[in-house]
Amino acid sequence: METIETKQQSTHKFDIKPIMDSIKVFAPATVANVVCGFDVLGFAVNEPGDEVIMRITNKPGLSISKITGDNGRLPLDPAKNTVTVSVQHYLQSVGRTDIGLDIELHKKMPIGSGLGSSSASTVAGLYAIKTLLGDETPVDKLLPFAIKGEEMACGHGHADNVAPALMGGFVLIRSYEPLDVIRLPHPAGLYSAIIFPDVDVPTREARQIIRKSIQMKDAVTQWGNIAGLVSGLFMEDLDLIGRSMQDVLVEPVRSMLIPDFYVMRQMAMDLGAISFGISGSGPSVFAFAKNEQTAIQITQKLQQHLTDIKIGSNIYVSTINDKGPKVIG
Ligand code: HSE
Repeated sequence: METIETKQQSTHKFDIKPIMDSIKVFAPATVANVVCGFDVLGFAVNEPGDEVIMRITNKPGLSISKITGDNGRLPLDPAKNTVTVSVQHYLQSVGRTDIGLDIELHKKMPIGSGLGSSSASTVAGLYAIKTLLGDETPVDKLLPFAIKGEEMACGHGHADNVAPALMGGFVLIRSYEPLDVIRLPHPAGLYSAIIFPDVDVPTREARQIIRKSIQMKDAVTQWGNIAGLVSGLFMEDLDLIGRSMQDVLVEPVRSMLIPDFYVMRQMAMDLGAISFGISGSGPSVFAFAKNEQTAIQITQKLQQHLTDIKIGSNIYVSTINDKGPKVIG
């Protein structure tokens, strides 16, 4: 395969070799932005997610033998697929580009959904190679390679999907240069109700429509809300979390891409949601709820509403996934 240049500094000072022949890994979907934290906040959920099967081969280089669940949308060419591109960056970093790997990618979640579809695949691939090689480097050290995958998938290396997918839990990207990523606490028993209306909103395009400059008064509102949300997570104050999850910068523009966004928000709030907003770049939307029953009711009612306006949807109810990727075979 074509060599991919990287300026990534090696974080590994030891000689690592495969400790098994094959592995199967699951990595979770994520909700990025969390309404007010554009590009700086995200959390992982238990489902949906993607699966990667990785096998050692005799032929040096990377190949993708199979992709399922993508309706033929994703490239099998390893130079163009986010999984292989990020794994290749990792292999360069550890000085093991001589290894032969074959990858199967099983998409278990919708593409272009705003649920971190490319991140789930990339993180599953990176966690698979790290585990296959017995590399005990902390998982957050894989983040720069995962960001390379995001750059390829959407033209921008944001980390608010890949960081929670890799590290699990609720994550703050305090800084991109240098990368400074912080795991945040969250109240136990906080449920997310996710609704994916089946309309395509590619992240690349959803980034192009947002405003390039903002007014100081809006910036003040936004950073007050981000600080309020982070404080609410630490204080386990659901009311503070709810009133802080307001976005005056991005949601007013992106909500136009989502069918009946404000109708769905009103419905969710009337059903007892703590908050409601766009997941990542959309079209998925999500609500926080204080128990599973409320989260289920929100997803069911919003799905019924979308059916009534002739839009298909997928729904998911989950607590926050504190584990991130896991080996499943
Ligand atoms: N922060 C990114 C965006 C997340 O809103 O474009 C994409 O899922």
